Amino acid sequence: MKRLENKTAFITGGGRGMGVAISKRLAAEGARVILTYSRSQEQATAVVAAIQADGGYARAVQADSGDPAALTAAIAGTIAKEGPVDILVNNAGIYIGRAFEEHTLDDYEQLMGVNVRAVYVAALAVAKQMPAGGRIITIGSNMAENALGPQSTLYTMSKAALTGFNRGLARDLGGRDITVNLVQPGPINTDMNPSDTELADFLRSRMALSEYGTGDDIAGLVAFLASEEGRFITGTAITIDGGLNA
Ligand SMILES: NC(=O)c1ccc[n+]([C@@H]2O[C@H](COP(=O)([O-])OP(=O)(O)OC[C@H]3O[C@@H](n4cnc5c(N)ncnc54)[C@H](OP(=O)(O)O)[C@@H]3O)[C@@H](O)[C@H]2O)c1
Repeated sequence: MKRLENKTAFITGGGRGMGVAISKRLAAEGARVILTYSRSQEQATAVVAAIQADGGYARAVQADSGDPAALTAAIAGTIAKEGPVDILVNNAGIYIGRAFEEHTLDDYEQLMGVNVRAVYVAALAVAKQMPAGGRIITIGSNMAENALGPQSTLYTMSKAALTGFNRGLARDLGGRDITVNLVQPGPINTDMNPSDTELADFLRSRMALSEYGTGDDIAGLVAFLASEEGRFITGTAITIDGGLNA
């Protein structure tokens, strides 16, 4: 028996970046995986095909996390088709990096809409029907605790907001045997943070392990938290950053 057999997992942003590794890993552990994308339809379809080729269950749904109605509808559709969501992984996120003086209100709405509001919206959409043993896992960032440099105010604020949400929701849902946790990655080689830039060299120079992590590093931790072995961990943030914040 695989660790996540008979579980339904809903993963936002599963077509690209670390969402790919998370989707494949949860499917390999036996979960039925429903992954969302906003723009990367081709990549999301390829992830679904790869999971199916390995004998797993996967389905991709177009749902812009910045659109609460679309995200809510995608979750309602999942509950109708695959049953209540056992594992919610809030992975989709965006970064808008520029001098603070050049930020606009629209930047705020856009970034907070995807990085924070969508996390709230998705949790709300799954919460009522989530069974005992349920898991809500959100991908935050080590930057919630260390802004690391300029041009990150908005992003850092959004990821720090998740820590409060995480603690509160753990207490709201703990009585129903549902755990709520935050995974805070450091530098992971994806489109958002490629490992071959000047910024990457700077980050490596500040890390204890001096090398970027991979989506699989994050997926392993998510799978552990989602499994029965993670049952006593809740309301906490686990930083997985190669020692960048050490
Ligand atoms: N890479 C890092 O070093 C790092 C470090 C700490 C935390 N993180 C966090 O890890 C998570 C994943 O990041 P990543 O590095 O994998 O980034 P990425 O390579 O840029 O991928 C972002 C993912 O989010 C999805 N997404 C973005 N906007 C969306 C929207 N409006 N609706 C639905 N999906 C949306 C994308 O799908 P579409 O292409 O379909 O929009 C894509 O699947 C994010 O929350 C990020 O903040 C990343």
